[in-house]
Amino acid sequence: MAGTNKVAVVTGASRGLGLEACRQMAAKGFHVVLAARTADSVAAGLKALGEGEGRVLDVSDDASVDAFFDWLAAAHGRLDILVNNAGRWFGETASLANADGPAMLSALSNNSVSAWRMMRRAVPLMNAAGHGRIVNVSSGLGQLSDMGGGSAAYRVSKAALNAMTIVAAHEAKGDVKVNAVCPGWVRTDMGGKGAPLGVEEGASGIVWAATLPADGPNGGFFRHGKRIEW
Ligand SMILES: NC(=O)c1ccc[n+]([C@@H]2O[C@H](COP(=O)([O-])OP(=O)(O)OC[C@H]3O[C@@H](n4cnc5c(N)ncnc54)[C@H](OP(=O)(O)O)[C@@H]3O)[C@@H](O)[C@H]2O)c1
Repeated sequence: MAGTNKVAVVTGASRGLGLEACRQMAAKGFHVVLAARTADSVAAGLKALGEGEGRVLDVSDDASVDAFFDWLAAAHGRLDILVNNAGRWFGETASLANADGPAMLSALSNNSVSAWRMMRRAVPLMNAAGHGRIVNVSSGLGQLSDMGGGSAAYRVSKAALNAMTIVAAHEAKGDVKVNAVCPGWVRTDMGGKGAPLGVEEGASGIVWAATLPADGPNGGFFRHGKRIEW
């Protein structure tokens, strides 16, 4: 999908994979909206990006998501790409012992229902326009086919995000595609310094799914452009 005049929104884009996805899509000619949780993080992201438009968006908050889409409709009247990238590690809720109900609900709200809130507004817009791409940035830790112990809240939140991806993909019409992507283990604040991949490589798999051609897949899970098991 070529970029000219098309609007691409990336959530949690102040740093890491989101920021790099903004950079790569801007280089392809998309009008990028860098969305981040606070005004300070939007400013930091735009400074690092050097171009583009920024907007405050807390994806854990229904009112913030609604305000964002109201602004988007007034300012641009279109949405061609949505990258649901925002996420937290929730390392403090690593096991059954310390992942209590509120902690699990918080992880689900921030890492899975976050994307659902965005898709509830984005899919109807894209269906009406007849085209669009949604990428849910997930993780291999959310694969049911490889589920294990530990990292409880994060694993469950990403598995739920994968399920939401499939549900939304079934509601996509025309040239609208909803896919999940694992970026691999990437050197970011979340991934840490020991991760094998740089942000360029991690984000390239996200941008691949965001710019799929009309005959590309819908409702799949991918890493570096290759299909992986749910
Ligand atoms: N790095 C890896 O190895 C790896 C592997 C698999 C999957 N992923 C996924 O890739 C995505 C990006 O991660 P990253 O490695 O780039 O991590 P990161 O550097 O920690 O960035 C995460 C971003 O998400 C934002 N965020 C979190 N909660 C938010 C909310 N409620 N509203 C808006 N923004 C929010 C953070 O902003 P604040 O700090 O302001 O909250 C931050 O900008 C995440 O979904 C992550 O789960 C990463």
